[in-house]
Amino acid sequence: MLAVASGKGGVGKSTIAVALALAFSRMGFRVGLLDADLYGPDIPRMMGLTRTADAKSLTVWTRPGFGRRPRPIERYGLEVWSAQFLVGEGQALSFPAGLAGLLLARSFGAVDWGELDWLIVDLPPGTADIQQQLVTQLGLDGALLVVTPQDVAHLDAKKVCDMFERGNVPVIGGVENMASLACPCCGTTIDLFAATPEERTVWALGVPRLARVPWSPEIRQSSASGSPIVAERSDGAGAMFAQLADAVLLAFSEC
Ligand SMILES: Nc1ncnc2c1ncn2[C@@H]1O[C@H](COP(=O)(O)OP(=O)(O)O)[C@@H](O)[C@H]1O
Ligand SMILES: [Mg+2]
Repeated sequence: MLAVASGKGGVGKSTIAVALALAFSRMGFRVGLLDADLYGPDIPRMMGLTRTADAKSLTVWTRPGFGRRPRPIERYGLEVWSAQFLVGEGQALSFPAGLAGLLLARSFGAVDWGELDWLIVDLPPGTADIQQQLVTQLGLDGALLVVTPQDVAHLDAKKVCDMFERGNVPVIGGVENMASLACPCCGTTIDLFAATPEERTVWALGVPRLARVPWSPEIRQSSASGSPIVAERSDGAGAMFAQLADAVLLAFSEC
C-alpha cells in the first residue's frame, strides 16, 4: 500500500495518484485507488465518476449497509473507492472531533478490494490529527511525496516526512510537479515559481526526486474532463508517468 502525500494542497497529489495508479495498471498490476482525502475527495471527479456520468455507480454510491462490505467501483481498469462515497455527491463529510482519522481508516478497512497488487492512497494534505491517525491505521508500506518547487511546499513536505518517520512509513521518494511549462509559441521553458534554495528542499533531506512533471495543458484538461491522461495516452505524458511508475517500483524495492 503506497500513500501519495503532500504538505500543501493543490500541488497535484490527486493528479499524480491517479496517473501512477493507471501507469501501474498498464504494467499489468491489479491496482486499487483509495481517495482518503476527506478535505477534497476529488478522485471521483478526476475519474469521471459522477452520478450523471456513471449511472452504474448509483447502485454502489450509497452509504454501505450493515454487515455488507462495500465494493469499490471499477473505472479505467482500477478499483476506486473514495471518502466521498460515504456520503452523496456534493455532501459534506463530518466526523466527531478527534476521531475522524480513526473512523475513516476503519471505514476504508471494510472495503472489499478483492485481489490487488497495489493500493494507491491519496492522503489528505498536511500533518494534523486526521493525517497522523490515517498514517498509523492504514498499514502503509511506503509514501511518495508531491511538491511544487515553492518554499512553502517544501517546508510543509518536511513536516510530512517527520510524520511518516514517526509512523515508521518509509518515504520512498518525491515528485516535483508543475515546476515549469513550455511556452506554446516558442517552446522556451518558463519557471512557474521562484526557485527554492536547494538546502531548504526535501531533496536536501535525502528524499530521492523520482520525477519532474512539468505543467501541461493536457494534464490540466484531462483531470478537469474526468478522462485521465494515462488512460488516454501511452506517449507524451503517458510515457512520462510510465517512467515514474518504473522509478517508484525501483525505489520501493530498494527501501
Ligand atoms: N502537471 C500538471 N499540469 C497541469 N495541471 C496540473 C498538473 N498537476 C496538477 N494540475 C492541476 O492542478 C490542480 C490541483 O491538482 P490536484 O491534483 O487536485 O492537487 P491536490 O490533490 O494536491 O490538491 C488541478 O486542477 C490539476 O488538474
Ligand atoms: Mg487532491
